[in-house]
Amino acid sequence: MNIHTDSASLEKSLFLFRDGKKIGFVPTMGALHEGHLSLVSNALDANDCVVVSIFVNPTQFDNASDLKKYPRNLQEDVSLLQKIKGKVLVYAPDKSDIYPGEVVSKQYRYGGIEFEMEGKHRKGHFDGVGTIVGLLLKIVKPNSAYFGEKDFQQLQIVKKLVQIEKLPVKIIGCPIVREKNGLAMSSRNRRLTPKQLEDATILYKTLQEVRRKFKPYSISQLNELVKERFLNSSLKLEYFEIANEKTLATAKYKRKGNTYRGFIAAHAGSVRLIDNMPLN
Ligand code: PAF
Repeated sequence: MNIHTDSASLEKSLFLFRDGKKIGFVPTMGALHEGHLSLVSNALDANDCVVVSIFVNPTQFDNASDLKKYPRNLQEDVSLLQKIKGKVLVYAPDKSDIYPGEVVSKQYRYGGIEFEMEGKHRKGHFDGVGTIVGLLLKIVKPNSAYFGEKDFQQLQIVKKLVQIEKLPVKIIGCPIVREKNGLAMSSRNRRLTPKQLEDATILYKTLQEVRRKFKPYSISQLNELVKERFLNSSLKLEYFEIANEKTLATAKYKRKGNTYRGFIAAHAGSVRLIDNMPLN
């Protein structure tokens, strides 16, 4: 399997596919797991070839230590991708191929969704995501690009980004892939101890409980319930919000006709985890 470290070499390989064939794209930061592999498999089902990018993007991290500790293992990632049947190209660019000059983000306005949840808690995160996804989409020029719903807000941001940048690409959201115990798959799970891996199921379990109680309980009761569940946990709750699925605005009351999702972020030691679930 060829690993392209610069866009010119990737373009050479993609050249054959530009003529009437379909190119799918799965952007990743590596440390691949089954969640990523399911994105690749969805992409292969609908395209003639799939580009997987592997790049730990510095501009989307608001925390230097999180960036430093982000798991990196290109060899392992490549051997996982090699097992897949179908045409997969790996683009693992050098930093200079993506950011030839200063390593900085472009600033975006996404119509307000950038100020909610992750936007409030991770300063500059979505400018960094918009910058890298925009750059990658312009290099790969895929027909469709695939993103996991674990980062539900990111998925909505990327949908807005392609409208703002007028990029001719279909953005496809794919369901969250979970461990047997319910924990949403994430590259960051690799940094958890066996006990933390077990304790971290509180994110999923709490979201499930909120979903079960969504009809009879008010939103403020549900917010209280989540806080209580975390009181005796080894994980530290950063936020829990019930938000309107379309606008991502925090919901205070349920309104007929709206759909809602529960969003949660918590820390297991120094590892930050997020999850979300539709509620109605
Ligand atoms: O979801 C991720 O892994 C990253 O945010 C992405 C989309 C690859 C951009 O760096």
